[in-house]
Amino acid sequence: MKLSVIGCGYLGAVHAAAMASLGHDVVGVDVDVAKIAKLAAGETPFFEPGLAEILSAGLGSGRLAFTTDMSAVADAEVHFVAVGTPQRKDGAGADLRFVDAAIDGLIPHLAPGSLVVGKSTVPVGTAARLAALVDPTGARLAWNPEFLREGFAVQDTVRPDRLVYGVAEASREQDTAVLDAVYAAAIEAGTPRIVTDYATAELVKVAANSFLATKISFINAMAEIAEVTGADVTMLADAIGHDARIGRRFLNAGVGFGGGCLPKDIRAFAARAEELGKGESVAFLKQVDEINLRRRQRLVDLVVDSFDGQVFGHRVAVLGLAFKPDSDDIRDSPALDVAVRLKGLGAEVISHDPEAVPNARQMHPQLEYAASATDALRGAEAVVLVTEWREYRELDPDATAALVSRPVVFDGRNALDPIRWRAAGWTYTGMGR
Ligand code: UDX
Repeated sequence: MKLSVIGCGYLGAVHAAAMASLGHDVVGVDVDVAKIAKLAAGETPFFEPGLAEILSAGLGSGRLAFTTDMSAVADAEVHFVAVGTPQRKDGAGADLRFVDAAIDGLIPHLAPGSLVVGKSTVPVGTAARLAALVDPTGARLAWNPEFLREGFAVQDTVRPDRLVYGVAEASREQDTAVLDAVYAAAIEAGTPRIVTDYATAELVKVAANSFLATKISFINAMAEIAEVTGADVTMLADAIGHDARIGRRFLNAGVGFGGGCLPKDIRAFAARAEELGKGESVAFLKQVDEINLRRRQRLVDLVVDSFDGQVFGHRVAVLGLAFKPDSDDIRDSPALDVAVRLKGLGAEVISHDPEAVPNARQMHPQLEYAASATDALRGAEAVVLVTEWREYRELDPDATAALVSRPVVFDGRNALDPIRWRAAGWTYTGMGR
């Protein structure tokens, strides 16, 4: 099929390359000239395992192209809208300016009978509003939220664990058939698909992210209780996780969630619920957010306490800057936040991350960045692990002890084995254990 993808950021670039890998003809469009030049040259604008391979294969096959010229979408049968919906500067709601601009830009080029498919995370009610704008062109609109996880974006796009189509009642069968053809490979592989209305499709996305955020903050709340009772939250998570109704995944206590989705999505959802007169229904999301942000400060406090309340001038190695491993994304990263807060208190912070240093340096040039974990660790008086990259999880406690000047480690992700580290002479502090 001939597809276009409007917006070549994280979501769009992966979607475009993944759709080409499935055999579709895809043109990706973005207003960012530098980004399009990079993608067209086969360079990935961010770190994502597997993306470079499908990008170069797509470009090589002639099935994938990138342009800043919106008229290139004219012969596409399906147009995916994959632009960002960041948090508004003036508050917690979503900024829809990129979605609106994408639809405005598309409208003059829409062929009658083509399908515009929104993938961006939007406040419930947006799809119905956009459908009214698209309608006069003879094209139709569907909403097909994306659930990809960074670090697994390619596999999540090619083989999602479910497909959700929000369609207009009048064209339900037609639109379903078009989307089934786009996702034929996943459907043949048995991927469940839910065909529903616009509002449900929009809500599925924010409900899923709210649930995941709540799960993380729940276990972090238990970590707060564990800290004052001497309990171990990781064993607690293992034990409750054996209950299949609860499940062990997303019950890792630590410095909490960050990234470009969960924090902004729960805030935007709370703001939208407020507009709908139902703020009370999701008032708990405010607490989910608060618990989450408290854990960052808790880790900073633990480090400061280890220096008897005065971290000024002490050398602290911060391992990790990305909001999670296998990503160079630093948006709302708890790791970077912890590094910045310690630096703000006068600590001599030396940070390391296998992928995120260039992004972090651009945003926080005042921080010091080491070229390797070893360089960061050398002479450190405290080690703070904040992103659980494999390289850090596999650190040898004996070899690491030989590098530092004071063997004190703070495990912000509960990723290390306290028994082994303590046996090697370390003072080990986890989060809620
Ligand atoms: C998330 C959703 O998982 C995905 O379905 C949605 O489409 C976009 O948002 P992503 O932001 O890539 O994906 O990251 P995710 O793996 O969900 O992790 C989010 C944050 O939660 C990270 O900072 C991670 O470190 C943290 N986290 C995750 C925990 O603190 N504990 C956990 O148990 C799991």
